[in-house]
Amino acid sequence: MTASILDGKALAAQIRSELAEKIRERTAAGVRPPGLGVILVGENPASQVYVRNKKKACEEIGIRSLSFDPPATITQADLLAKVHEWNADPAVDGILVQLPLPEHINSQAILEEINYKKDVDGFHPVNQGKLMTGLPGHVACTPLGVLVMLERSGVELKGKHAVIVGRSNIVGKPVAFLLLSRHCTVTICHSRTQDLPGVCRSADILVAAIGKAEMIRGDWVKPGAVVIDVGINSVPRDGKNKLVGDVAFAEAAERASLITPVPGGVGPMTIAMLLSNTVDSWTAATAPTP
Ligand code: GUN
Repeated sequence: MTASILDGKALAAQIRSELAEKIRERTAAGVRPPGLGVILVGENPASQVYVRNKKKACEEIGIRSLSFDPPATITQADLLAKVHEWNADPAVDGILVQLPLPEHINSQAILEEINYKKDVDGFHPVNQGKLMTGLPGHVACTPLGVLVMLERSGVELKGKHAVIVGRSNIVGKPVAFLLLSRHCTVTICHSRTQDLPGVCRSADILVAAIGKAEMIRGDWVKPGAVVIDVGINSVPRDGKNKLVGDVAFAEAAERASLITPVPGGVGPMTIAMLLSNTVDSWTAATAPTP
C-alpha cells in the first residue's frame, strides 16, 4: 500500500474535544448550555442506533439533548406541533428529525417547517440555497465532514479536479458546491455517466457517494489522487457481515496518496459536524447583542 490513511476517527475526536472546550469556557462565563432537540418517530432499529449515538456524543461534550420519540402512528399535525414548539423554545439551538419517517408523513414538509437557523442537519431548502450561492448557513453534516477532513489534512484544493460520484441532495450535490467554493473544478458523475472509470481517472480528488459496495476499482484511481469514500455497505464475507465502502480499498490504496478507510473515515466526521453545527447555532443565538 502506498497511500496514507485519512483517519476520520482521530480527527472527529479532536474536533469533539475542541467543541467541548468551547462549551466549557462559555458556560463557565455564564452562558446557558447548548440544546439539541431530536425527533425519532417509530422503532426503526438503525435509526434508534444513530439517534442513541448522536445523543451520547452531545452529552459527552456538554450539549443537552431533548427527546421526542412518538410512535409511528403519529399524525403530520402532531409532528409539526413539536417542531413549532421547539422552533419557539430559546433553549433549543438545533432540531434534528431522524429520517426516514413513516410513509404517511410528508418528510419534506416537516423539514421545511424547521426554523432554518436551527436546521443543524442542513436539509432545509434555505440552507441548501445558501450553500449554492456561497452564503453562510448550516451545511449538511456528511458533506461538511468531507470538506473539513480535506482541509484539516492540508490537501490543496484550489484548481484541483474533484470528481464526485453520486448526485444525491444530501451528499453528492452539497459536496460539489463546497469544493466549488474552495476553487476546485468539479465534475458530478451518476448512473448515466459515460466512461465513468475514465472520468474518475482524471480526478485529483475522488469522492465516492454512490452506495454500491466496492464499485470504484483501483485502476479508476489516478496515481497520487486523494480518495474520499462516503459509502457504508454491509456485505457478507467469510461467513460474517463486513462494512465496506464504495471504493475497493486495498486496490485504490495502491495508487492513491491519501485515502479514507471504511469504517473510521467519513462516518465519525458526520456526528462531529452535527455537534459543530449545533455549537455554531448556539454561539449565534447566545452572542451578546451589540
Ligand atoms: N438518516 C440517515 N442519515 C441521516 C442524517 O444524517 N440525518 C437525519 N436526520 N436522518 C438521517
